[in-house]
Amino acid sequence: MTVFEELLPRPVRVSPTGGTLADPPDPVFVPDASLPPSGFRLTVDSAVRIEAPDAAGEFYGLQALKQLRGPAAFRAVDLPGDPLPCGVVEDWPRFGWRGCLLDVARHFMPKYGVLRFLDLMAAHRLNVLHLHLTDDQGWRVEVPEFPRLTEVGAWRAGSWVGRPPDGTPGHDGRPHGGFYTVDDLREIVAYAAERHITVVPEIDVPGHSQAAIAAYPWLGVTGRPLAVLTRWGVNDNVLAMTDEVVDFYRRVLTHVADIFPSEVICVGGDEVPTTQWTADPASVARAEALGLSSVDELNGWFVGEMATHLATLGRRALAWDEALSPLLPEDTVIGAWHTGVDTGGHDVVLCPEEHVYLDHRQSDHPDEPIPVGYLRTLANVYAYEPLPSALGAQAQVWSEHLDSPRRVDYAAFPRLAAFAEVVWSGPGGSYAEFEQRLTRHHLPRLDALGVEYRPLAGPHPWQTRPGAPGRPR
Ligand code: ACM
Repeated sequence: MTVFEELLPRPVRVSPTGGTLADPPDPVFVPDASLPPSGFRLTVDSAVRIEAPDAAGEFYGLQALKQLRGPAAFRAVDLPGDPLPCGVVEDWPRFGWRGCLLDVARHFMPKYGVLRFLDLMAAHRLNVLHLHLTDDQGWRVEVPEFPRLTEVGAWRAGSWVGRPPDGTPGHDGRPHGGFYTVDDLREIVAYAAERHITVVPEIDVPGHSQAAIAAYPWLGVTGRPLAVLTRWGVNDNVLAMTDEVVDFYRRVLTHVADIFPSEVICVGGDEVPTTQWTADPASVARAEALGLSSVDELNGWFVGEMATHLATLGRRALAWDEALSPLLPEDTVIGAWHTGVDTGGHDVVLCPEEHVYLDHRQSDHPDEPIPVGYLRTLANVYAYEPLPSALGAQAQVWSEHLDSPRRVDYAAFPRLAAFAEVVWSGPGGSYAEFEQRLTRHHLPRLDALGVEYRPLAGPHPWQTRPGAPGRPR
């Protein structure tokens, strides 16, 4: 095996010519419009040349070059790397949307953690960070016009720990919170852009909105004061379907669009119980006045209002698949998290829970820390085959049980490396070959980056559940 075959994601074509180049000079960049978008041709002979059709291709060529220099190239300072193998690598991505959702609402990720996560995404040539900024359990974006969103909505009294019946069905009694200032977010956006990553912000409505309702109770159906939620799961407290609430969120989205240059902005629409609307005469009357057949259609209507507003700002909405409705503008992108959902001709980003929810447990051994969801092994993620007609696919890192960058590392890696290969490389890779390449060559890169991934044989003792039985090693 030549070192070219150590690359991850697996490249389209490699042509080793033999020999190595020690002390390589800085690469020379050469435009080549004949390569596919974001593609590159990396040539190592007596010099190092990266031909690319665009700046993203140059960047990805540099990432491949770093991998050829060995794990040392992934440290924070430049340590001597390996001699470079001579030859040519040609490569380009299969999908234009190679995303990862990071949930910073359930557990706040400090800004340094988000910047570091962007570095890790860049090393895997992922190019969309979907930042889930609001939920029942926290509001994480400063909105100067509505200061209580962060003064009140960014903080909660405690968090559920464990997962009943496996964990403690109790509240830890420890306040949690945090938010990003406008300048923090501008910094995150610019840092991402330097790495050819677009940050897609999400303001989740009209469900998953209790943190906002805690800040401004008139946003809710009942108008009653509520606390920022301390438990997980689907929540009955949803937004009121009034003109005032529509106007409030239009203003929030105008502010968010000013911070985030992304063409696409996510407005949620997932997991919206209709219990409160059904019991509320004003909501029923609103649905009737809008010509809807029942309150069940209010989610699609409200998300449609948000999407229409984004269109006036020159943006496109992304909505989760439950919001599908004839009332959505045609250019709305659907985030399909249910397998097999009919997305009615909309552009789609595939986010299937069944394949790429990285909060789900990685093994059925009882030492897995907080065994959420159902089993999704590294091999399962690698076997995922996205529909070629989609814009692309996105892994999800929901953070109910991930309260620190260490826990995020454990859930995301190495499964995110498998996902990166699924969305970059063409179909047909062998899992056995991938696992060998990962173990021998890529995990040392993650070690150099300081990623606390899950070892393939199972968690380190300090990564397990308290009291869990260990494994024979
Ligand atoms: C989702 O998992 N509620 C999109």
